Amino acid sequence: MVYLRPADELDARWLAELRAASLVELGLLAADAVDVFAARATREFFALFAADRIAAWIACDADRVVGSSCAVFYDRLPYPDGSRHAELCGVYVMPAFRKRGFASELVREVLGAAQAGGARKTFLRPTKSAKALYRRLGFIDTELMSFASREPARSSEPALAAWPNG
Ligand SMILES: CC(C)(COP(=O)(O)OP(=O)(O)OC[C@H]1O[C@@H](n2cnc3c(N)ncnc32)[C@H](O)[C@@H]1OP(=O)(O)O)[C@@H](O)C(=O)NCCC(=O)NCCS
Repeated sequence: MVYLRPADELDARWLAELRAASLVELGLLAADAVDVFAARATREFFALFAADRIAAWIACDADRVVGSSCAVFYDRLPYPDGSRHAELCGVYVMPAFRKRGFASELVREVLGAAQAGGARKTFLRPTKSAKALYRRLGFIDTELMSFASREPARSSEPALAAWPNG
């Protein structure tokens, strides 16, 4: 029987493996790179727990973990009601366990944990197929812009070569 529970640093390896499976499914990680990635991800999850920067819930079936949901805490500039915020991430349920309400329940629990951990707001970058789920749970669409730090910043000014001489 599947049950949900909060995760801690001892679950870092499980969280890393689910993260790897999620990235493979999204086409962001090659199958032959999973082991190396999961080893690094395990260390990073462990460090996040040690620094009190993550709240996570997992779904367990017998002796394995089949689903996860995480909130990673970060600070924004100060607001009157606090600067701590959270990003919801790592929401993943193994294919054989989908459409049974586990992701919805995991997200609800993690939102509660984020609030209890002092998050003023919780943000999320949803995959297209998961948007309906998040809307149902109370998330609203906002106009978040993002910038991939590997891209060079483009200037809106004309190129130097086009400037008049002198
Ligand atoms: C997105 C994802 C986490 C959803 O997991 P899930 O456990 O299937 O989610 P839920 O069961 O809570 O909800 C999924 C759907 O099943 C429906 N459902 C829930 N319980 C159900 C039940 N008992 N019977 C039938 N349908 C049910 C929900 O209404 C929901 O419908 P919707 O897709 O139209 O919104 C999962 O598909 C996944 O891991 N995808 C790949 C990674 C990913 O995209 N993650 C999101 C990153 S933002």
